[in-house]
Amino acid sequence: MRLARRPLLWIEQAKGLDAVAKPAASAVSKVVRSRRSLHNLLSGVPIGHPLHPILTDVTIGAFTMGTLVDLVGGRRSAPAADLLVTVGAASAVPTALTGANDWSDTTGGSSRVGLVHAAANSTALTLFLASFVGRRASRPRRIALRLAGLGFLTLGGDLGGHLAYTRAAGVNHAAFERLPKDWTPVLADAELDEGVPRGVTVDGASLLLVRDRGQVRALAATCSHLGGPLDEGEVKDGCVTCPWHGSTFRLADGEVVTGPATAAQPVLETRVQGGQIEVRATPLS
Ligand code: FES
Repeated sequence: MRLARRPLLWIEQAKGLDAVAKPAASAVSKVVRSRRSLHNLLSGVPIGHPLHPILTDVTIGAFTMGTLVDLVGGRRSAPAADLLVTVGAASAVPTALTGANDWSDTTGGSSRVGLVHAAANSTALTLFLASFVGRRASRPRRIALRLAGLGFLTLGGDLGGHLAYTRAAGVNHAAFERLPKDWTPVLADAELDEGVPRGVTVDGASLLLVRDRGQVRALAATCSHLGGPLDEGEVKDGCVTCPWHGSTFRLADGEVVTGPATAAQPVLETRVQGGQIEVRATPLS
């Protein structure tokens, strides 16, 4: 096993962290879910993908540049360095809010890694803020604090990367479904009742079938948010709601109506031939 992977595995398996992670995630979840528009905004629904990674670029970029300018630019660069660190500190607030929103839906190892990710970034922010205290009196102290802050920021970034790229938090979980390219029979038409979701599997792909106001709809059944089973969801008003975190998708085109999901569900074309419902991927899916 690679050396760098060991601490990550240790964090993932450290169940003691759940004593903090579970109540904290539940408290965040309660706040954001009670405000639908805030939940959608923090999740990134208006832009079609998670908002948190965009904001982290601003925060990490500003803190990094502020530290480097301070380090190599001499005393005359201090105002520019301070301005950059101020931008980093100000942007850290929405960055943390979007991160907490996303984290509140994670469980197990992802939740534990997310907790340590947040702790590392909070420590970094504290060190950058502390660098403003008495900064004119002691340049070496200020730079030392900022370099230490950069170290914790790098640790936090590494853990965030692990969450996204290894544990698939924030990726589109419906993107890997291999949908049938040709018309494929999936269910007898008589077996699909109005408004009752039905799960079927075609060549390994999980699909959701729904008869909605007489029209047969077919979507990928794996929720794009974190992989929840949409075929176990609730169908209402032309939409299906995921049973895991409440994302709502329009049956007609798969578009997200309510987050936390940000990516639309893949939809399939449907037809009835010889009493059988047939589906095939749309040309763009
Ligand atoms: S898995 Fe989270 S809303 Fe579906």
